[in-house]
Amino acid sequence: MTLTVCIGSSCHLKGSKKVAQTFERLITENNLREKVNFHAAFCMGNCQNGISVSLDDKVYSVTPETAEEFFRTQVMARL
Ligand code: FES
Repeated sequence: MTLTVCIGSSCHLKGSKKVAQTFERLITENNLREKVNFHAAFCMGNCQNGISVSLDDKVYSVTPETAEEFFRTQVMARL
């Protein structure tokens, strides 16, 4: 599974770094390094709805507050 967080300027301003840190922490805590291919990417063309996060081919909107819930309900639920 490939998980990507947008670090383009619009998403960066909304806190994408915090989202990335949350995902990093959860990947480490749950020992998912081999299962989740985690990347950062520049603008995904979805700035208005950012922070943009893609999971395989689908783009989602996440905030620093919802990042952990997103990870548990979307990422971990599919493993
Ligand atoms: S900066 Fe993130 S979608 Fe454009």
